[in-house]
Amino acid sequence: MLPQEIIRKTRNKEVITKDEIEFLVKGIASGSLADIQAASFSMAVFLNGLTKEETLNLTLAMRDSGETLNFEDINAPIVDKHSTGGVGDKVSLMLAPMLASCGVYVPMIAGRGLGHTGGTLDKLDSISGYKTNVDVKTFKDTVKKVGCAIIGQTSNLAPADKKLYAIRDVCATVESIPLITASILSKKLAAGLKYLVMDIKCGNGAFMESKKRAIELAKSIVNVANGAGTKTTALLTDMNSVLGLSVGNALELKEALDYLKGKTPNKRLDVVTKELCCELLVNSNVAKNKDTALKMLNQSIEKGYAYEKFIKMSVSLGADAKVLENYEENLPNAKYVRPIYAKSEGYIKEIDTRKIGLGVIMLGGGRTSPTESINYTTGFTSFCQIGDKVDAKTPLCYIHAEDESKIKEVSKLIVEAVKTSDKKTKASSVIIDKIS
Ligand code: URA
Repeated sequence: MLPQEIIRKTRNKEVITKDEIEFLVKGIASGSLADIQAASFSMAVFLNGLTKEETLNLTLAMRDSGETLNFEDINAPIVDKHSTGGVGDKVSLMLAPMLASCGVYVPMIAGRGLGHTGGTLDKLDSISGYKTNVDVKTFKDTVKKVGCAIIGQTSNLAPADKKLYAIRDVCATVESIPLITASILSKKLAAGLKYLVMDIKCGNGAFMESKKRAIELAKSIVNVANGAGTKTTALLTDMNSVLGLSVGNALELKEALDYLKGKTPNKRLDVVTKELCCELLVNSNVAKNKDTALKMLNQSIEKGYAYEKFIKMSVSLGADAKVLENYEENLPNAKYVRPIYAKSEGYIKEIDTRKIGLGVIMLGGGRTSPTESINYTTGFTSFCQIGDKVDAKTPLCYIHAEDESKIKEVSKLIVEAVKTSDKKTKASSVIIDKIS
């Protein structure tokens, strides 16, 4: 087969065969396909799309480009959740131990921050000793022993995705529905899941801003995942405001641990976390309906089971239990913490959520180049929610910074990003839609 002839077909909107797709994907993984050819293929797909069958074949070929895990020796459902990325999205940190406390197993392969969105791995890296880059054996052992493990993509898990993703990132082909579908699902399916729930973020802090595009992506992922034998549903959730009260790595980790301890959960964060958990518990028949699932989840927090699972998982992956048990004192804190006030008092009407994510990057909490090390302590806490009243005493949020000179610039960005109104405002529902 000639790679240029296959790329030519996609360029000309002709359908390519399973064998042709496998040939390209093997070439990407082995390096026999030149980066310029992989880039051209990704641009042809970006411009012309792929059929459902081609998308399924691309996903399966990428899944099979490296090692695939199986947990067949575990006699319980193997489940996972994946989010398309948001600002303040710390759901995975709570969902994995909560589900593990309810009797299912969660082998979660998570990612680092991407663009303005935060990444679960960066949040976990703020725990000293926690290793997100362990080998497959440690990962599997932790899943079996604890019920959940959250780590990064190992070098041999869907390596074609790793390469193609890096190429897409620098040639403007990230926002393609078939490519996102194959990229996300190749990693998820390689982890040996039987049940998956997708959190498709929608709004000004998400990659898919419009509901129409978010639904298109949800349908594509649900179709392909079910076609590949993993029972999958998707929830469309609102990303027109920060999820929860904190944004930034260690700050979000603290909010997640507070939540697992049953302390003052933020309503929207609580709803998204539990709805996603319920999908998995009901789909896997561990709970007969949503009410039963909610009872199990509430118990996992009230009895301290989920918090305990989080500690056990972290210790199994290298963390010191003592640091986590006293996390409020032991997790790193920023040097400067200052309130940010709105220009005038009023009710929060609108938040340009993408800018809040960019604010974290400007404070050093995210990367501006792939290998950069980041600052775990920086970000925002007590972030206002749509409908909240702010005035001269109630700030929009508190900024956490290591470098005092950044505070002015980032505070200005936050003030500009949050719009107030004289009239009372109300937040829209956080769950927008469900795709089964
Ligand atoms: N996350 C991924 O893993 N891949 C994409 O293409 C987009 C988001």
